[in-house]
Amino acid sequence: THQWRGIIEEYRDRLPVTDATPVVTLREGGTPLVPAQVLSERTGCEVHLKVEGANPTGSFKDRGMTMAITRAKEEGAQAVICASTGNTSASAAAYAVRAGMVCAVLVPQGKIALGKMGQALVYGSKILQVDGNFDDCLNLARSLSENYPVALVNSVNPYRIEGQKTASFEIVDALGDAPDIHVLPVGNAGNITAYWKGYKEYSADGMSSRTPRMWGFQASGSAPIVRGEVVKDPSTIATAIRIGNPASWTQAIAARDESGGFIDEVTDREILRAYRLLASQEGVFVEPASAASVAGLLKAAEQGKVDPGQKIVCTVTGNGLKDPDWAVAGAPQPVTVPVDAAAAAERLGLA
Ligand code: F0G
Repeated sequence: THQWRGIIEEYRDRLPVTDATPVVTLREGGTPLVPAQVLSERTGCEVHLKVEGANPTGSFKDRGMTMAITRAKEEGAQAVICASTGNTSASAAAYAVRAGMVCAVLVPQGKIALGKMGQALVYGSKILQVDGNFDDCLNLARSLSENYPVALVNSVNPYRIEGQKTASFEIVDALGDAPDIHVLPVGNAGNITAYWKGYKEYSADGMSSRTPRMWGFQASGSAPIVRGEVVKDPSTIATAIRIGNPASWTQAIAARDESGGFIDEVTDREILRAYRLLASQEGVFVEPASAASVAGLLKAAEQGKVDPGQKIVCTVTGNGLKDPDWAVAGAPQPVTVPVDAAAAAERLGLA
């Protein structure tokens, strides 16, 4: 058959599985790499979007979760736990269903998008809202996994990184080589760690001639790596990356420095501007945190940091339907018309 088989089957020889491993999959990965015409014109570069919102639960987390849940299953775990700003929990909940496991989820109270809460609920996870932020949730999840029979599936779990690195493989496979620059939003910093690992492995094996410079962007109110210190009370409208003490901080700095890249911040205003541009000019509807990569590219271009003629990939990490509030907010209310073609035509400016 021609159906994409999921990242474990497609990249089996590059992942920690054996023939005996019970693969738990929703056929994640194989996501579109979409040429971005307006962004290319604005930067004078060849810009592509890696649209990770096309994964089974609507975010890149599925790449890591197929691996983490598969290995948890192989090791006999009956329950998994994660802390989440919403996407990890949606993904863990779905893959736990496929594996026949119990899934426990810890989210910061009042700070996850409605679509993500709906996913955790409908997949039947055991969800607790914690009176604290994501960093508090992660500490709690770690402590529970150390003291109770439940496996931690946050990106501190190395199998998560293994699964997520396959996005780099797909990009090199599609472009024929690594891009010059890869741009990502950064929250807990697992994904930039994973992409860098993937690019390094592929180039070491001669699958690409080079590795890209890694550019990461945090939200200004939640930019501990940029500031060089933990942010105690992180804030941003991009709730997915509202994180003050990233678990993979050291690895993100290594990715930045080894690749000759940088990690900078973008304001909520810049994020929302990129969010609207992506939907209205490129036809790609992402959640706000995902737009941080594109906001960062535009900021860098305005600062003269983007030499023309380069190949650039921006990962857009999550589907816009996860957090529709921002699509509706600030947009004009649709007008109501009678069932009347002339009236409708007039309102549409056709008459
Ligand atoms: N974009 C989205 C849509 C996310 O959900 C996340 C992280 C990131 C970017 C940042 O990726 O953490 O690997 O640097 N979401 C986690 C979660 C924290 O719980 O869903 P990162």
